[in-house]
Amino acid sequence: MQNFDVRQAYLDYFKSKGHEVIESAPLVPNDATLLFTNAGMVPFKSIFTGEVPRPTPPIRTSCQTCIRAGGKHNDLDNVGYTARHHTFFEMLGNFSFGEYFKKDAIAYAWEFVTQVLKLPKDRLYVTVHESDDEAYGMWQEHIAKERIYKFGDKDNFWQMGDTGPCGPCSEIFYDQGAEHFNSDEDYMGGDGDRFLEIWNLVFMQFERSADGKLTTLPKPSIDTGMGLERVTAIKEGKFSNYDSSLFMPYINEVAKLCGKPYEYATGASYRVISDHIRSVTFLLAQGVNFDKEGRGYVLRRILRRAVRHGYLLGIKKPFMYKLVDKVCELMGGHYAYLNEKKEAVKEQIKLEEERFFATIASGLELFNDELTRTKDIFSGEVAFKLYDTFGFPLDLTADMLRDKNLKVDEAKFDELMSEQKARAKAAWKGSGDKSAKGDFKELLEEFGENEFIGYEALDSQSKILAILDEDFKRTNSLKAGENGWVMFDKTPFYAQSGGQCGDSGEITGKAQILDTQKFHGLNLSSVKANVELKTGDEVSVKVSSERSEIARHHSATHILHSALRKVLGTHIAQAGSSVEADKLRFDFSHPKALTSEELARIEAFVQNAIVKGEAAKTQIMDIEDAKNSGAIALFGEKYADKVRVLSFGEVSKELCGGTHVHNLNEIGAFFITKESGVSAGVRRIEAVCSKAALNLAKNLHAELDEIKTELKSIEPIIAIKKLKTEIKSLKDELKNAGSSKAINLSDINGVKVCVEILESGDIKTAIDEIKNANERTAVLFMQVKDDKVAIAAGVKNASIKAGEWVKMTAQILGGNGGGKDDFATAGGKDTSKIQDATKAALEFAKEKLI
Ligand code: ALA
Repeated sequence: MQNFDVRQAYLDYFKSKGHEVIESAPLVPNDATLLFTNAGMVPFKSIFTGEVPRPTPPIRTSCQTCIRAGGKHNDLDNVGYTARHHTFFEMLGNFSFGEYFKKDAIAYAWEFVTQVLKLPKDRLYVTVHESDDEAYGMWQEHIAKERIYKFGDKDNFWQMGDTGPCGPCSEIFYDQGAEHFNSDEDYMGGDGDRFLEIWNLVFMQFERSADGKLTTLPKPSIDTGMGLERVTAIKEGKFSNYDSSLFMPYINEVAKLCGKPYEYATGASYRVISDHIRSVTFLLAQGVNFDKEGRGYVLRRILRRAVRHGYLLGIKKPFMYKLVDKVCELMGGHYAYLNEKKEAVKEQIKLEEERFFATIASGLELFNDELTRTKDIFSGEVAFKLYDTFGFPLDLTADMLRDKNLKVDEAKFDELMSEQKARAKAAWKGSGDKSAKGDFKELLEEFGENEFIGYEALDSQSKILAILDEDFKRTNSLKAGENGWVMFDKTPFYAQSGGQCGDSGEITGKAQILDTQKFHGLNLSSVKANVELKTGDEVSVKVSSERSEIARHHSATHILHSALRKVLGTHIAQAGSSVEADKLRFDFSHPKALTSEELARIEAFVQNAIVKGEAAKTQIMDIEDAKNSGAIALFGEKYADKVRVLSFGEVSKELCGGTHVHNLNEIGAFFITKESGVSAGVRRIEAVCSKAALNLAKNLHAELDEIKTELKSIEPIIAIKKLKTEIKSLKDELKNAGSSKAINLSDINGVKVCVEILESGDIKTAIDEIKNANERTAVLFMQVKDDKVAIAAGVKNASIKAGEWVKMTAQILGGNGGGKDDFATAGGKDTSKIQDATKAALEFAKEKLI
């Protein structure tokens, strides 16, 4: 057990200094420039840049879960081999948005480190940027000058990514003691482990744009980051984060799983696994899934890297999923959603492990084979094959070469990869960021957020407060025929969110409303003007009648969600949804395809709820009260302090800002139209209700009528079954027909005689086969083709003339023909006489032979 709860102590300290405590934001940020949340400040980026107004109070604190595995801050390669690198970690931070600056930030940091953490002062050092005399001076109020070091941009300038807020920084270091370290790098500023950076105070003053230029931020701000894992290790007197109570429990589990005790010096694989299981569990629990690209691919890389390290330890079957319980045990107290998702996460990991275990042995064989040929550089082609065919991510191959001091030909790998990408056009597009451009801040400052009145009203008299052109730049008017965006003072148009599409409609007599979207809380409608529109216009607006169908599909989605939880289990988590006027789509985490029985039960649950009816009830509640009341909230969704809780009796209770029916009865009908897989561990249900459901039923009915007509039956199922039986018996007959030729040869005075109607096959070949197989034979075959009868006869060492034989047979069939004594062909027309002809031909043969 941890003996000192660093996380809680930190949050409590800053709370006592007036900071608002903010919950950790999701690992997948709402920011197209980042793969993952990689620092505590990420959720506050647009506040730092001034894009959105400062919150009240303008100082906050948080313990933010972070991933650094990809993008600018990528630690994946080092994890396991150093004492302090992690893919997943928790960053403690305090933030000031234009409120306090360097002086207070330094004072808080010093007080916390020395008074709360009680770290001995004689172990502490600080660094400042070489140009920052101000910070240099301020630190001297707390710590001796000799303990303050100045470094350049490399160490003391921090930025979030290639673009974004940044500034000079000041770091606090902890000296772990000369007696334990002896590397040449163990000096302040060196790469050794003795001096450990525990806290980074960033003095946010600039924003870096894509062209590299720095602009000054509107207000100098503070962003800090303290690594929970490092500080916990120090508090516990450990020299490696992995020796602390945050990691040892996993390491002990791994030792049990592989049956070999852990030793630090040779234990990189144990550490890799104990780090990676945390990333994997958190990412999956937050709805990221294993995938071929983007974030899901990083997740796959992390898991596979861990699996390979397990393999090195001799674990030859899925094991990572077994460690999820430990993550929940250690971290589920603070991150409750882990417990809810536990079983589903385990299942997803196990499936992914199974996928990789299926190819790992062959992949390793290819790898080792190539290794024998490798002198300096491992072949890029083979690395690509390992990736493409055996699922070995490039960094896994690099990791395997690490202890052999070899490198991969990455250039070749990249070349092959881009060729493949170009073929597959599979580049990751990132999350949309509507805040990337536009004059929204100006609008927010001038008008604040505009009021949405569309829960009840579908039309209104509204005033056009502002107009933006298609590039979101402010303008005073739109001419007839032009497109742009309009902000009304109050608006009945619902802005797309929570899966529900944005409303369309009209400004009566003046413009069409094509769509409605939200930008930083501003509800803006996309318009195409029919006449000139000007700011200040008082207009009447009307939401399209599609809205009621959208509402029905939205309410049906909530009931479907409840049905899924009821039938499949509470591990179900919404992974996306889309609600439109004529269909709905709901994505959710579940490891397996649904059976038809499950689907039937889910559909019936929704249908019953509709028939039973239940009035909608909306309540505005405190977020915590809402969650405690059992309302389903979406992970990662940013909720305000006050939330709207929508319930339909006992059937459903969810946090939702969307528009809904007043009673479930209004949904009318509901049908599931499709169930499919979206990615590993995520299923999708598509469904229709109301008018769309009736249309579906109508179309199915019409199709059924057509089927009945085709089958000429009012009971198509019986007719189809009958047809199937007929087809089966015809097939059997056909099969037997082939083999009956030999069986039906009869012996007449030593001559093998056969007269048959052949269903299939070539009659001449059939005759040849019989002639070849018998010394004395007389064969006559008939075959019906295109309403005619083909006749052929073959004779060998017997007193029948084939020509005569076919002729007499053909005559019965209303035809004619003839030929040689040993082989002859003829044709008949009257297929109805075929049985007569058969009998006569046989009689003819008997007469001639007896
Ligand atoms: N954002 C700063 C960091 O991540 C505090 O180090």
